[in-house]
Amino acid sequence: MGYRVVVVGATGNVGREMLNILAERQFPVDELAVLASRRSLGTEVSFGETTLTTKDLDTFDFTGWDMALFAVGSEATKVYAPKAAAAGCVVIDNSSLYRYDPDIPLIVPECNPEAIHGYKNKNIIANPNCSTAQMVVALKPLHDRAKIKRVVVSTYQSVSGAGKEGMDELWDQTKAIYNPTTDVEPKKFQKQIAFNVIPQIDVFMEDGSTKEEWKMVVETKKIVDPSIKVTATCVRVPVFVGHSEAVNIEFEEFLDEDEARDILREAPGIMVIDKREAGGYVSPIECAGDFATFISRIRQDSTIENGLNLWCVSDNLRKGAALNAVQIAELLGREVLKKG
Ligand SMILES: NC(=O)c1ccc[n+]([C@@H]2O[C@H](COP(=O)([O-])OP(=O)(O)OC[C@H]3O[C@@H](n4cnc5c(N)ncnc54)[C@H](OP(=O)(O)O)[C@@H]3O)[C@@H](O)[C@H]2O)c1
Repeated sequence: MGYRVVVVGATGNVGREMLNILAERQFPVDELAVLASRRSLGTEVSFGETTLTTKDLDTFDFTGWDMALFAVGSEATKVYAPKAAAAGCVVIDNSSLYRYDPDIPLIVPECNPEAIHGYKNKNIIANPNCSTAQMVVALKPLHDRAKIKRVVVSTYQSVSGAGKEGMDELWDQTKAIYNPTTDVEPKKFQKQIAFNVIPQIDVFMEDGSTKEEWKMVVETKKIVDPSIKVTATCVRVPVFVGHSEAVNIEFEEFLDEDEARDILREAPGIMVIDKREAGGYVSPIECAGDFATFISRIRQDSTIENGLNLWCVSDNLRKGAALNAVQIAELLGREVLKKG
């Protein structure tokens, strides 16, 4: 016996990737409903070899469905996730709406699987921000060995992190560079993204950081350890899929770079590619479509007593969103619902 699963936002970047991953990982699905807005009513989406037709979220009845993987923005989530949860369907949400609610677990299965039981509070589980998810997969096994005091991270985030419209804007602006009669005005991003980088993701906060940077701080504390200090600079780059991060870590104890490499090699969800030669590291174009979080450039930071640097790359639509949500669904099935 399997599960009755709903994918909400099935026409979007994350929703489509959820369908791919549910099929690739042979998630035990008995029945699958795919939902989007009324605008896309009847749009066809693929699930493995099958084609499914989207239904309207607004009129869908969640009664009798086991779990709903939500990948719509916070506004739609605010309206529909409580309805699904009240109907007895467990919501696994990709938006930021519930991540900071102390009654709602925020889960990266490699880091804090034990938090799954907190789903009972509201029948809702939150999925972290894409830039946080890949970083904590790397931090957790190192923290377990040498206790992390402080993290300084700079991100290089792809346009797919801003949804379908973000990808279209990079594509259209890139074409327009060669055909200047076309309109290249930024709409989704604050400045031109083609052949440029933009040091702003999400809105500004009072202290001068952006909301994306704030999310990395708060979510790392909630998932790994509240004592870890994080300072982040988040940058949008003209890459379609795959977020990269340069991470500097200060530990309480000394951790040798070779030992760190060994720990990361053994850690779940991680693939170490670190050859210290030209091209012996992973770039975002190589991680697209993959499940792993790739770690390269592991090296001592000799400017502080107990410091390490590393480079972390992952498919933001997968580990940063859809894969993590499906892993939570697997965890929920294994630990709680026990049907599969
Ligand atoms: N992209 C990432 O790397 C990433 C990572 C982590 C979390 N997230 C989060 O995941 C969510 C989805 O992101 P995305 O990148 O997939 O966005 P997207 O490509 O723009 O897709 C948005 C999806 O939501 C649906 N939708 C929007 N408003 C709706 C409404 N009122 N009723 C029903 N359906 C509605 C859209 O349906 P239509 O096609 O009918 O408009 C579409 O299926 C967002 O909350 C985002 O913050 C994204």
